[in-house]
Amino acid sequence: MIDIKNDPRFKGLEPFPSRVWLSSPTMHGDEQRWVDDAIQTNWVSTVGRNIDEIEKAIAEYVGVQYAVGLSAGTAALHLATKLAGERLFGMARPNEGTLQGKRVFCSDVTFDASINPVAYEDGEAVFIDTERDTWNMDPAALEKAFELYPDTKLIVLAHLYGTPGKMEEIKAIADKHGALIIEDAAESLGAKYRLNGKWIETGALGDYNCISFNGNKIITGSAGGMFLTDSKEDCEKVRKWSTQSREAAPWYQHEEIGYNYRISNIVAGVVRGQIPYLEEHIEQKKAIYERYKEGLKDLPVSMNPFDAEKSVPNYWLSCLLIDEDAMAPHVRGEQDELWSHIPGKSSPGEILNAIACFKAEGRPIWKPMHMQPIYRTHKFITAEGNGRGRSNAYIAGTGADVGADIFRRGLCLPSDNKMTPEQQDIVIDIIHRCFQ
Ligand SMILES: Cc1ncc(COP(=O)(O)O)c(C=O)c1O
Repeated sequence: MIDIKNDPRFKGLEPFPSRVWLSSPTMHGDEQRWVDDAIQTNWVSTVGRNIDEIEKAIAEYVGVQYAVGLSAGTAALHLATKLAGERLFGMARPNEGTLQGKRVFCSDVTFDASINPVAYEDGEAVFIDTERDTWNMDPAALEKAFELYPDTKLIVLAHLYGTPGKMEEIKAIADKHGALIIEDAAESLGAKYRLNGKWIETGALGDYNCISFNGNKIITGSAGGMFLTDSKEDCEKVRKWSTQSREAAPWYQHEEIGYNYRISNIVAGVVRGQIPYLEEHIEQKKAIYERYKEGLKDLPVSMNPFDAEKSVPNYWLSCLLIDEDAMAPHVRGEQDELWSHIPGKSSPGEILNAIACFKAEGRPIWKPMHMQPIYRTHKFITAEGNGRGRSNAYIAGTGADVGADIFRRGLCLPSDNKMTPEQQDIVIDIIHRCFQ
């Protein structure tokens, strides 16, 4: 490892006076107004005008009939997964999940909150490898997975870093096999996809759709999430489950297991103040992406790709991928890493450490789920078939594993919409120096 501060390549650079973040909340003032409104009117609870307003505004923006405000994107994903489980396999006993013994095909390069609800519901996540065009679920690998496990009826798909996945292909495969799709649009609110010639927002593309207002997202409530749907019945069920599944009795009466997952009217006030700025945030993120693309074009790297004909990302995070022949040595253990420098080459480890040294925050690519210790025993399907157990003492090469490759060579760049062009130029300069 290299002492970056004393490395002559970084001579003359000073740390940023205040940290440049990966993606931090950007407040505009209206948030305070709606939080104050909630407090002054005493709607300091999980009911109130802020909740009603954001449900209406987001449903309208995304183009769905109904939105249910929840405490987190994870809560939305849990209830979406439970809804799908009930529809496919019926109501479960109180101590059992709705997916008991069932396989669910899941995005592999995503945040674990996308797919943990499969485990909450006692199902088995089967991870589907990633394609290189958008870094999302590979339709070829999904098709392969249906060949191997044709009785699977549920898919959980995330749009990584705000870039829509190949929905047209994936929906066609799902339809062919009679499978439902849970769409995790937590990172992609405001991104659009052209499905069969019609532009549709992410968050309106699945059978069950979820977004997040986590502090690092394109707009935030400090926390919070939403379930989005065109089904009145599903909307009502999620409202019921998220408020402890109360029946219409004078006392607490329960026919179903309940959850305390409803959004707070205070949190909804922050979201309400943010919604008018969603487009502005997307424009800022897009400018950041394009500035990186231009500034890094002379280096042996590429940016996180998208399909410009079929999609408009929200550019939530800008990422780079180092060309294979420009990769310096970099090995990762389960919790630590080791990297070294070779002139003309670099590694995610070196770049992330270098920018951190000057007080800018990047992040490794989300580690693929099939590589996570918790899911090590779960199946992983690539375009070639079973992605596990392919190594061999006698034959070189272990076949495709696109997610592992993107994790190995990629990284997320500082993408905060308050980062100035001057600050971004310095980040770009640091990355250049890494390759010297
Ligand atoms: C892809 C993805 N899914 C789900 C979540 C979970 O959302 P929340 O943090 O609101 O629970 C996140 C991020 O937080 C995410 O990035």
